[in-house]
Amino acid sequence: MNISGSVALVTGANRGLGLAFSRELVRRGAAKVYGAARNPAAVTEPGVLPVALDITDGDQVERVAAQCADVSLLVNNAGVLRYSTFTSAPDPDAARQEMETNYFGTLRMCRAFAPVLAAAGGGAIVNMLSVTSFFTNPFDASYGASKAAEWSLTNGVRIELHHQGTLVVAVHAGFIDTEMAALTDAPKISPESVAAQVFDAVEAGQVEVLADERSRDIKAKLSRDHELIYPPIQEFWDAAVSGTS
Ligand SMILES: NC(=O)c1ccc[n+]([C@@H]2O[C@H](COP(=O)([O-])OP(=O)(O)OC[C@H]3O[C@@H](n4cnc5c(N)ncnc54)[C@H](OP(=O)(O)O)[C@@H]3O)[C@@H](O)[C@H]2O)c1
Repeated sequence: MNISGSVALVTGANRGLGLAFSRELVRRGAAKVYGAARNPAAVTEPGVLPVALDITDGDQVERVAAQCADVSLLVNNAGVLRYSTFTSAPDPDAARQEMETNYFGTLRMCRAFAPVLAAAGGGAIVNMLSVTSFFTNPFDASYGASKAAEWSLTNGVRIELHHQGTLVVAVHAGFIDTEMAALTDAPKISPESVAAQVFDAVEAGQVEVLADERSRDIKAKLSRDHELIYPPIQEFWDAAVSGTS
């Protein structure tokens, strides 16, 4: 589909990658860009229309789908990362918050906007996933579980909405240079690069974006994960818990 002339809605549009998505949509000539955020006053990008939306609030999601009934491109970007292990996380509710936002929030948005996109002639959904959709890292274990669930959701929604002509794009990336990844010094891709790759993929009708080397490398190793992916993670984790890392 063409970004130029489309009507887009971006969740979590107030900062980070959501802001980069919104800016790139305006730059590519989208006819209208709704910038959805829990605090709409924080959406100040020129050309972006602020909309109040917490994706964990079912009533609000329904209201926004009715209010923004002209959307043809839905960008499910909003997400949370609590850096939580499975067995030793100090806050057991972190996993629930991640699942409630990343999986159930995105599910709610897909359900609410499926008829809106059908009315627009199909349109597209972009789901912002992660390299951790593909494997588990104990440093962000419960986040990975939520992103794996969201990946599964994305593949299922693509099948379910094929009949109405909706393109469903899965986006995977390692660290992106936003507040979410501020804790790490690991290499990071820029949010602008992710946004450009994503809208190139939408325009080309591609169903998957592997936005950085880490995502491409891990996906290529999936069929031999217990040989190629997990041993170095295990080594790093063992060193971390024994205090030598
Ligand atoms: N940064 C990375 O390294 C990285 C890598 C791979 C994938 N991702 C994914 O990329 C997406 C964007 O992340 P980011 O890097 O831009 O992170 P970020 O800087 O932490 O921004 C997260 C955004 O999501 C919003 N949000 C969180 N919970 C929400 C809710 N319940 N309802 C509506 N909005 C909510 C936040 O709003 P508030 O300002 O109100 O908190 C904020 O706008 C996420 O899905 C994330 O999982 C990030």
